[in-house]
Amino acid sequence: MKNLFNLSSLSVEEITAILDRAQQFSEGAKSDAAKGKVVASLFFEPSTRTQNSYSMAVMRLGGQVITFNTAVSSMTKGETFYDTVKVFESLGCDAAIIRHSENEYYNQLKNIKMPILSGGDGTGNHPTQSLLDLLTIRQEFGKFEGLKVCIVGDIVHSRVAHTDIEVMKRFGMEVYTSGPDEFKEDGFNYIDFDTAVKEMDVLILLRIQHERLESEMVMSKEDYNKQFGLNAERLAAMKDHAIIMHPAPFNRGVEIDDECVECSKSRIFKQMSNGVFVRMAAVERALLD
Ligand code: CP
Repeated sequence: MKNLFNLSSLSVEEITAILDRAQQFSEGAKSDAAKGKVVASLFFEPSTRTQNSYSMAVMRLGGQVITFNTAVSSMTKGETFYDTVKVFESLGCDAAIIRHSENEYYNQLKNIKMPILSGGDGTGNHPTQSLLDLLTIRQEFGKFEGLKVCIVGDIVHSRVAHTDIEVMKRFGMEVYTSGPDEFKEDGFNYIDFDTAVKEMDVLILLRIQHERLESEMVMSKEDYNKQFGLNAERLAAMKDHAIIMHPAPFNRGVEIDDECVECSKSRIFKQMSNGVFVRMAAVERALLD
């Protein structure tokens, strides 16, 4: 059974194998690895991209998806997280895709026998987001070693930042962080944002995770945009070959201005397309094992 909880438990070779398979899918490879299988899509936190691209991946592999909505589920009658997941296993689902606000929620699911693929856990891990980030970077540059990447914004609350930083360092990238003091995290390589704009090969912008803040952001959205927002002037200062990425959803006029969202350096929508391919590789890996 091949769960996918995080990337830190996978070797560079295992991650490379997933990326290689995702690349094949991006070039038109077909698989019916999910034919006759039903996958439960259990999102206990909101999602647009991850949930629907996992569903698209399962369908592209010939399988079917059951979704559920916490607001109208029996959780409103007191059913627990574990018991809810156990229901879908008992119904005969072949795998489950789960997003939950609790870090390492999967530790509660040790008695579940079907494979579990994470759609993100709290502020901890977002393995398929980092896989699609890696795939997008490899498609652009053909390598990881020596590339300079800066992740900008709400580092402390971002499962994308935490997963990217760990895995990108292992792949030989020079990883930096930038953003307001209130979102800094100790131990990460901090760099001034305007220096990062000029020096990086890859800029990964993040949204402020307001849903995880204990109180209002100290900095106003206007000040954030002035100090850390990507605008036309900063775009012009980037290296010719540099690219912009964002896991999305993005907030126009805060971390990124309108004119940068679909500019020639933006790979934001490419990332979303790649999300289907890496999730096809992850689902195939889980179901074929
Ligand atoms: N990037 C990402 O995880 O987006 P969703 O929250 O829409 O899934």
